[in-house]
Amino acid sequence: MRISKRTAGLTASITLAVSAKAKAMKAAGVDVVGFGAGEPDFDTPENIKVAAVKAINSGFTKYTPATGMPELKAAVAEKFKKQNGLTYDPAQVVIACGGKHALFGAMMALLDTGDEVIIPTPYWVSYPDMATVCEARSVFVEGRETNGFKITPADLKAALTPRTKIVILNYPSNPTGAAYTVAELEALADVIVKHPRAIVFSDEIYEQLLYDDAEFKSFAALRPELMDRTLTFNAVSKTYSMTGWRIGYVAGPADIMKAIGNLQSHSTSNPSSMCQKAALEAIIGDQSSVEMMRQEFDKRRLRMVELLNAMPGVTCMKPAGAFYCFPNVAGAIAKVCPDAEGNTRSAAFCDKILEDIHVAIVPGCGFGNDDCVRLSFATSMANIEKGLARLDEYLRSK
Ligand SMILES: Cc1ncc(COP(=O)(O)O)c(C=O)c1O
Repeated sequence: MRISKRTAGLTASITLAVSAKAKAMKAAGVDVVGFGAGEPDFDTPENIKVAAVKAINSGFTKYTPATGMPELKAAVAEKFKKQNGLTYDPAQVVIACGGKHALFGAMMALLDTGDEVIIPTPYWVSYPDMATVCEARSVFVEGRETNGFKITPADLKAALTPRTKIVILNYPSNPTGAAYTVAELEALADVIVKHPRAIVFSDEIYEQLLYDDAEFKSFAALRPELMDRTLTFNAVSKTYSMTGWRIGYVAGPADIMKAIGNLQSHSTSNPSSMCQKAALEAIIGDQSSVEMMRQEFDKRRLRMVELLNAMPGVTCMKPAGAFYCFPNVAGAIAKVCPDAEGNTRSAAFCDKILEDIHVAIVPGCGFGNDDCVRLSFATSMANIEKGLARLDEYLRSK
């Protein structure tokens, strides 16, 4: 076989696959309503675009240091101090080509063959595949729907072993929108501090997208001893509608950051220089667009939850953050795909929905929960009304 064992077991990201199929149908003239997107539908704010153009026009088009330009690392360190109460030296920050790249580099830097990575379910699609590439074993801890898709300290404790190297936490969550309260985080922190080998990956990429009275606290800020045991991940992608610019970052203990930097120096080198300038403007410039987008998402969230809960065979928890609903559609799957078996029933359901009524939603099996599907509300209110009316009518006809 020509393909390495390391990559042969990988599957293409299911979220990207759904988007690609919907795009191809659209290109062929089909009136598809898409709920697959994992990115804001707003344009990147003008001040950020201007900063990038200025960078290009002024010749800022060459290599920067592999782990990012000093001004951006300093701005990220300052952001962590002001917004998250975390004190990092700029040397403890690595700028990467998106949050995904930062997570991947960190796993490569930490994992040896046979190490275990604890991944709460439902999980963001890429975590298990990243662990696979690093020849590590994913250990799934179920975030039960009855517990708002969150894991409990008891379940976490039961999953930790001497081989646990990484514990991944992502809140607000993709795909469920679940956000832990500070008390819940403290209870998880109490379990983790007793396992000194385990390093926490706190994926805080949706930090700014919280609704109602949900509170945010960075995991590393919970206990002083966690500072040396936590990597904090973030990116400009979701917060500033900059998914295509590919700038993310990670901060943590200096030795680990050095290893990630070494790896980056031999793989991507620096993230695109002009995009770093744009990210700098995003982080230090006018922040009003962040709140504007959040408020718009909030309106759509409430409407989507209302419409989903009115459908037969569908129940939907109100997401506390991010821009996804993750309804339980087990009842609807049983009606639409009565013959579907195994643990990809949600995929059969989503395929049928796309084919029959041209509505693109993402199967929960890609996130480790086959009773659910994911719908992004990072799309216009008009699309939400139109697509969900189609879905409602379809499910009622079954
Ligand atoms: C939970 C989570 N982490 C990380 C990422 C990676 O984001 P990006 O690489 O676009 O910065 C995403 C994107 O969908 C995500 O949902």
